[in-house]
Amino acid sequence: MKKLIFALVAGAFCVTASAADVAKGEALVKKYNCAACHGADYNKPIDPTYPKLAGQHADYLAHALRAYKRGAGANGRVNPIMAGQVQPLSNQDMADIGAYLASLPTQLVTSK
Ligand code: HEC
Repeated sequence: MKKLIFALVAGAFCVTASAADVAKGEALVKKYNCAACHGADYNKPIDPTYPKLAGQHADYLAHALRAYKRGAGANGRVNPIMAGQVQPLSNQDMADIGAYLASLPTQLVTSK
């Protein structure tokens, strides 16, 4: 029984072949120079109205990026600045970027 459970768990990990890749995410944010606005270490945005991204949840970040790409479509986000940024990104790119940004040291806090 234990062996069966192990096999099932191991199999579940294998099907997630397209899991988010932190190194690819780092390469993508460098390529597109996202830090130009979101700031050094993704903690010091160049304008106080621009969001800090470091340490935010990976799935939230990927979800937000997909929403900018949908734009005025269903449940999209309409923002002229970010709309331009996300056009070249695939869903996998957005997941990889989310994983990288989530891995960074954060200044975000949750109240206790
Ligand atoms: C020209 C400036 C600029 C650049 C370059 C830029 N962003 Fe943004 N980003 C913004 C602004 C402004 C917002 C807030 C928009 C809003 O109010 O919805 C934002 C919002 C976001 C959000 C939503 C954060 C949240 O908490 O909901 C994410 C994620 C994000 N950007 C990621 C990126 C990534 C990844 C790149 C590079 C591919 C990038 N940004 C490049 C200005 C920029």
